[in-house]
Amino acid sequence: MQDIIEYIKNNQNNYIEELKELLRIPSISTSPEHKTDIEKAAEFIKEKLKTAGMSHVEIFKTEGHPLIYGEWLGAPGKPTVLFYGHYDVQPVDPVELWNSPPFEPVVKNGKIYARGATDDKGQLYMHIKSVEAFFKMEGSLPLNVKFLIEGEEEIGSSNLEIFINNNAELLKCDAVLISDTALYAEGVPTLTYGLRGLTYMEVELTGPKRDLHSGSFGGAVGNPVNILTNLISKMHDKNGRITIPHFYDDVLKPTKKERTNFNKLKFSDKKFANEIGVAALEGEKGYSTLERLWIRPTLDCNGIIGGFTEKGAKTIIPAKATAKISMRLVANQDTKKIAKLFTKYFKSITPKSVKVKITNLHGGQPILMPLDNPATMAAAKSMEKAFGRKIVFIREGGSIPIVSVFSKKLRAPAILMGLGLDSENLHSPNEHFNLKHFQLGIMSSAYFIKEFSI
Ligand code: BES
Ligand code: MN
Ligand code: MN
Repeated sequence: MQDIIEYIKNNQNNYIEELKELLRIPSISTSPEHKTDIEKAAEFIKEKLKTAGMSHVEIFKTEGHPLIYGEWLGAPGKPTVLFYGHYDVQPVDPVELWNSPPFEPVVKNGKIYARGATDDKGQLYMHIKSVEAFFKMEGSLPLNVKFLIEGEEEIGSSNLEIFINNNAELLKCDAVLISDTALYAEGVPTLTYGLRGLTYMEVELTGPKRDLHSGSFGGAVGNPVNILTNLISKMHDKNGRITIPHFYDDVLKPTKKERTNFNKLKFSDKKFANEIGVAALEGEKGYSTLERLWIRPTLDCNGIIGGFTEKGAKTIIPAKATAKISMRLVANQDTKKIAKLFTKYFKSITPKSVKVKITNLHGGQPILMPLDNPATMAAAKSMEKAFGRKIVFIREGGSIPIVSVFSKKLRAPAILMGLGLDSENLHSPNEHFNLKHFQLGIMSSAYFIKEFSI
């Protein structure tokens, strides 16, 4: 094993240069104009999987963006690990807030800056390199390896879900290893065992058939923007609880042990607030910040569109108002059920003076995983070896919708071995990835390949 670790250390600079190449491809999944970039990124990964030593690599076209499948099954009788990751990235706006162009990666103070650096190109690349290191040093792997890299994670993974449903045999494995989450803190080896789910809704209120003069009509006509903001504010009570009837019915309560474990983690509300630039925190009464983020569901308005938003003043009663409202879910809530409850409630509180249209944009199931399986234990050991520190187990507020599909369809434990940090600006300007963690991730992955093969 030591030779492999040495090899990984000695090749850090090459890895960074290769990663830069991948980061230069603007594979933004939500923008149709980036379709060829998406294809370019898929092609790049295919080539790298081949050079890493996979015996078969294939790009599968889907209704949406292509996914890449790779395999090396030269260790019969040994376990199979499936590495999952996503090569698609989020849009870059507001681009003027980037200190360097989002698709021109630069290394500064041990961090690599580019869109996709930590989410998820840098992280998925770690596993390609760990596998490659084995082939370079030993000519083979001690277990069987499959790769599944998709291009639609940031837009809901709906085509990957179809692919998994149709290809359960091809994807059969003993564990799914995913690096698309965060470490608890810098240098702290971390495994995540819970993710929140998501229900993303759009509501549109239509009032008068055209914008009206707010003097001639104001006061006698329902204003869709007023009404919409009022409805949104009705979605929480004074204790920060969501008012949708039956919303909490399926929420799993944490065990005493889990709450005790959370309390043992070093955490400062003040530091947390400082880091994001707010003077005070806010949330559901009766829960700590970590609990609010990890074990409690939320409802948030992501944006409101409506009325006059240009410079200056224009006096109107707008004809229409739209809001994008998302809910983060926890085990055992169900995204479809929550969408129904939301729709029913929202309609019931909407006054007759406006018409309402509600659309479910996308979603994903929450997940809570058991820790007592060989793959998780091997992963914990591997990270501890690479970092030289004791592992911590955490939950996560973000979502990776496909994880629940892996658990259900492949019936294999999913291991969330994320090497990012919440402070690495994912989805924001100046996204970056700590290169120390990049290297520790490659090592952790290599140790895992060894540990899980025994
Ligand atoms: N890698 C993230 C999930 C994540 C976020 C992990 C924060 C750890 C910390 C993933 O790419 C992501 O952004 N997921 C989306 C899912 C959505 C688009 C369906 C999310 O959580 O908003
Ligand atoms: Mn991601
Ligand atoms: Mn993301």
